[in-house]
Amino acid sequence: MECIAYGKYSACSNCSSTDSLRDKAEKIKKEIDIMFGLRELTKVWEPCNIYDSAIIGHGGSIGMFTEIGPNVTIGDRVRIGKGCFIPEGITIGDDCFIGPHVCFSNDMYPPGVREDWQRTYILNGASIGANVSIRPGVTIGRNSLVGMGAVVTCDIPDNEVWAGVPAIMIRNNYKLKEGVEND
Ligand SMILES: CC(C)(COP(=O)(O)OP(=O)(O)OC[C@H]1O[C@@H](n2cnc3c(N)ncnc32)[C@H](O)[C@@H]1OP(=O)(O)O)[C@@H](O)C(=O)NCCC(=O)NCCS
Repeated sequence: MECIAYGKYSACSNCSSTDSLRDKAEKIKKEIDIMFGLRELTKVWEPCNIYDSAIIGHGGSIGMFTEIGPNVTIGDRVRIGKGCFIPEGITIGDDCFIGPHVCFSNDMYPPGVREDWQRTYILNGASIGANVSIRPGVTIGRNSLVGMGAVVTCDIPDNEVWAGVPAIMIRNNYKLKEGVEND
């Protein structure tokens, strides 16, 4: 069974137990591929603060001064700019682009209790522009694009461009990037 929000990287509590064996197998396969040079590692420009429990795919890059919190899941070929804050509860799919100084959040009414923190999903192929702030608990659709400086306060559908404060849709049927599937 796949997580409907994120497919193979099942970071959500509903499916972490059902998918755990397959996830482990996939992780081992990736490690073996990396050992034999079949996959490129994600490049991290130091200094960064990346928690041990974060899962990061291959072939991407992470800019300086970025913080990636506990249990964050990041897919393959994800490029993350300088100075981003990606706390616990965030899941980023494959082939995403996170611009510089993007700020995610998980606590709607801080300081709140951990049980109330919300999960945010950035689906495959989505791009987030520079300096965007993202409200806890939203899902940003596949191959969507968020313009620089936006404040995202609600879910964004697939293949749309959103911008502004609060962000609104400025273009639909945004063209799918080459190599990104939208099934
Ligand atoms: C959102 C974006 C893709 C729009 O580009 P575009 O499709 O060429 O849009 P246009 O420049 O034609 O603007 C369309 C309208 O949206 C507005 N707009 C564009 N970008 C905006 C933004 N980031 N915030 C608020 N409004 C924006 C324009 O003012 C214009 O409004 P108008 O019709 O009232 O004049 C682009 O502006 C953007 O932010 N790209 C991301 C850049 C970035 O952060 N890169 C990170 C790597 S360094």
